[in-house]
Amino acid sequence: MSVLVIGGAGFIGSNFVLDWLAQLSEQIINLDKLTYAGNLENLSSLENDARHVFVQGDLADRQLVDRLLVEYRPRAIVNFAAESHVDRSIHGPEDFIQTNIVGTFRLLEAVRAYWNGLPESEKKAFRFLHVSTDEVYGSLSKTDAPFAETHRYEPNSPYSASKAASDHLVRAWHHTYGLPVLTTNCSNNYGPYHFPEKLIPLMIVNALAGKSLPVYGDGMQIRDWLYVTDHCSAIRRVLESGRVGETYNIGGWNEKPNLEIVHTICALLDELRPKAEGTSYKTQITHVQDRPGHDRRYAIDARKIERELGWKPAETFETGIRKTVQWYLDHPEWVQRVQSGAYRDWVSKNYGARS
Ligand code: NAD
Ligand code: TYD
Repeated sequence: MSVLVIGGAGFIGSNFVLDWLAQLSEQIINLDKLTYAGNLENLSSLENDARHVFVQGDLADRQLVDRLLVEYRPRAIVNFAAESHVDRSIHGPEDFIQTNIVGTFRLLEAVRAYWNGLPESEKKAFRFLHVSTDEVYGSLSKTDAPFAETHRYEPNSPYSASKAASDHLVRAWHHTYGLPVLTTNCSNNYGPYHFPEKLIPLMIVNALAGKSLPVYGDGMQIRDWLYVTDHCSAIRRVLESGRVGETYNIGGWNEKPNLEIVHTICALLDELRPKAEGTSYKTQITHVQDRPGHDRRYAIDARKIERELGWKPAETFETGIRKTVQWYLDHPEWVQRVQSGAYRDWVSKNYGARS
């Protein structure tokens, strides 16, 4: 038995692969295009592990995906692959349309053909899990109830619009063709291997480098934070026991304004790596121009997954953020190789000599 993971060299995908193989013996086929966000070094501990098969390629490459499906006969697919950064989607939406919408469509078509050809028992057991975001629901006011699965879709950024489109495609492939799909919509993640273009890793890395900590606008935008391994455990639970065709919202009831996040990071760094001159990292905070169309608040109502599947996060924000700051302090070489771009040489360094 094997599972095809797509986008498993990114932030959440690599945490998912590492967690999976730490707990289960089932093989993972990992298809990833290795865009700037894919970092195979995250998975270097699996180099000699036959349970992990890495394939560099695009989820929109129908021939390649067809071949992998025939060769490995996965019992499930978990798709993480996406362009994921809102600011990049504002500067250049094209890749988001291509990967998140066209790519999902091509993948669904390949999977539909494969699934139709399976014997009845395998067909029944097969699952396609689509990893999505709470951003498809749009923005909440301070007093609105958190997003339930029934909240209407109101995406506001090119990123969230492209993810919303992919969610709709997945839904339609279930309703029209009977494909056994599951969709998860998760809140903001944080933790190890997070690319330092997103809020939490950027603030840690900039603080340590003595650079400014750029808070967009007033910094009172609210996000609902979940430690990445809790997202991974929720996905495993949905894959095991989720009802086909259903969507599950995933979150840890951890709403925080951005400024509070930045203050918490600074306080942890003041404790764990105090500056020689004795000043706080908070002095590096600057307010910069706001993001266009910036969503004010996201919040997840996670009662459905708690009630139906018995899932709960293991980390609180306090334990998760401390682990995260400590991880970045312990892995300066990872940060340095990401910042210099050296991580991109890893594939040729590691695989070039083998082929
Ligand atoms: P990421 O940007 O860190 O990683 C994306 C991965 O997908 C990379 O390894 C990249 O190389 C790969 N990829 C991109 N385009 C591809 C293509 N065309 N074919 C194959 N691989 C491709 O993203 P992430 O933060 O790990 O997010 C993973 C998924 O989870 C995304 O679908 C995202 O929308 C969703 N999500 C993310 C968060 C979050 O806070 N990061 C929260 C909820 C949901
Ligand atoms: P981000 O990590 O990009 O995730 P998303 O936009 O998908 O929620 O940003 C999280 C929040 O932090 C968001 O409100 C934008 C804000 N932010 C800053 O204030 N400064 C920054 O430099 C970045 C990258 C984000």
